[in-house]
Amino acid sequence: MPVVRVARMLVFVAVLTAGCGGASDPPDGAAIFRDRCSACHGAEGLGGMGPALRGQATDDIVKQGRLPQGMPAFDEILSDAEIDAVVEYANRLNRLGS
Ligand code: HEC
Repeated sequence: MPVVRVARMLVFVAVLTAGCGGASDPPDGAAIFRDRCSACHGAEGLGGMGPALRGQATDDIVKQGRLPQGMPAFDEILSDAEIDAVVEYANRLNRLGS
């Protein structure tokens, strides 16, 4: 039955092409900040439920969080590259706000 053959071939092609074209872009610090940080620190880093970002953001602060004060640690949540990107973004907000 030719129809079955065509259907099988389509499945085969679909399997071959799945996974292609997903080359990972560099992490988007702004998007990560919006998703992960802005609920507490505000979209502009000026504070909300959490404090305004005043000091220099560092990878260590974000990785370890400030657990006693209520900031979660992100080392299990974000990759190192994502942490780099979001810290750079937070520091850019910082400079704009000062
Ligand atoms: C659940 C709320 C919450 C989330 C989510 C959160 N934070 Fe925080 N963050 C806090 C709190 C509360 C503090 C204050 C700690 C203190 O008083 O020392 C803080 C402190 C900080 C500081 C130190 C501020 C300073 O001026 O010393 C930085 C930098 C920071 N957060 C960055 C981030 C980044 C980047 C993200 C997202 C990856 C994030 N935070 C997500 C609540 C949060």
